[in-house]
Amino acid sequence: MGKVLTRYQAAVSAGELRPDPAQRAVAERLDRCAAELEARPRRGSILWRALGRRPEAVRGVYLWGGVGRGKSMLMDMFFACVDGPRKRRVHFHEFMQEVHDRLRVEREKETPDPVMPVADAIADEVRLLAFDEMIVTNSADAMILSRLFTRIMSHDVTIVATSNRAPGQLYLNGLNREHFLPFIALLEEKLDVIALDGPTDYRLERLGGFPTWYVPNGKAATDALSRAFFRLTDFPVEDRAHVPTEELAIPGGRSMHVPKSLKGVAVFSFKRLCGEARGIPDYLAIARRYHTVIIVGIPKLSAELRNEATRFKLLVDTLYEHGVKLLAAADAEPEQLYVGGDDAFEFDRTVSRLMEMRSADYLAKGHGSEG
Ligand SMILES: Nc1ncnc2c1ncn2[C@@H]1O[C@H](COP(=O)(O)OP(=O)(O)OP(=O)(O)O)[C@@H](O)[C@H]1O
Ligand SMILES: [Mg+2]
Repeated sequence: MGKVLTRYQAAVSAGELRPDPAQRAVAERLDRCAAELEARPRRGSILWRALGRRPEAVRGVYLWGGVGRGKSMLMDMFFACVDGPRKRRVHFHEFMQEVHDRLRVEREKETPDPVMPVADAIADEVRLLAFDEMIVTNSADAMILSRLFTRIMSHDVTIVATSNRAPGQLYLNGLNREHFLPFIALLEEKLDVIALDGPTDYRLERLGGFPTWYVPNGKAATDALSRAFFRLTDFPVEDRAHVPTEELAIPGGRSMHVPKSLKGVAVFSFKRLCGEARGIPDYLAIARRYHTVIIVGIPKLSAELRNEATRFKLLVDTLYEHGVKLLAAADAEPEQLYVGGDDAFEFDRTVSRLMEMRSADYLAKGHGSEG
């Protein structure tokens, strides 16, 4: 039994994870992948040269299934266990943003086929690329993915990915989908495609019974949300002072400080989200990056807080459209939140969305804007 399986078993034995045969099978597969990766000769080493040709990359895994099945959890376990080869774990959306940035630079240099040098540069940096939440929603990505990944994978790079969709279901009904089909074929040929799609949404189970909207703001609400954060992220409460932060990149070159960011869950204050000059690009970046957002300190939205209310409305719309789960501490229930008294300001839809976002159906929905 290798490191991944040992770790998985330990978590089950400790009662942190419920035994799940499908998850165990995935842990076994990833265990093999980790062992193979570690056993590989270094690039350019004597062994490598002695082979006389480039060895085939270690076969990777494409893990797909409904939300909360434990895909990211297993991938993270695997990723943490792989020692030696240079590795990178990245949210797929963030990765593609970076690819487009690099392509822009190449185009400025008038490189004839910019995808190739970009793929080569990426492949040069890592031996293992782990993608969380692979999702394809725009044609700019769809058009280049096949060539980009064919090239990356020709360089002895192993890919492990999680997704809510089987490869054949990616970019469904997308524009010019025929140009995207080779990417599906590539995934199916080069990776072990494994469904982790059992009956249990463990995230929902962890949220189960917990209210998502706490009134009023104060210690009780903050404590409850903090418990929810630790439950959702499995972060040891004793280490609460060391929860990672993040500088979230916003298209256009800005960034936003995220005070707590772990495993797709972020914590923000209302002030930071809606009290500063922020807009759709900020909210989109958040909605794409996180499956769950916790907001503390939502005040009653009076006439003086008109700008804040407008931003809050935009934020809720964006989170809602991306199926992001929202947990919040506020000074009022959604219906009583807006006290601006300005008829022109449409808050009804926000209230209705906030109510829906508390429902079991919404909480069971997947993250992402596809389909
Ligand atoms: N067997 C299990 N027992 C208890 N909790 C589990 C188990 N498997 C996963 N979890 C927990 O359930 C939550 C959701 O898991 P995870 O984030 O890995 O789901 P996912 O499949 O990546 O979902 P999504 O598609 O939304 O990204 C995590 O907090 C994880 O630790
Ligand atoms: Mg996940």
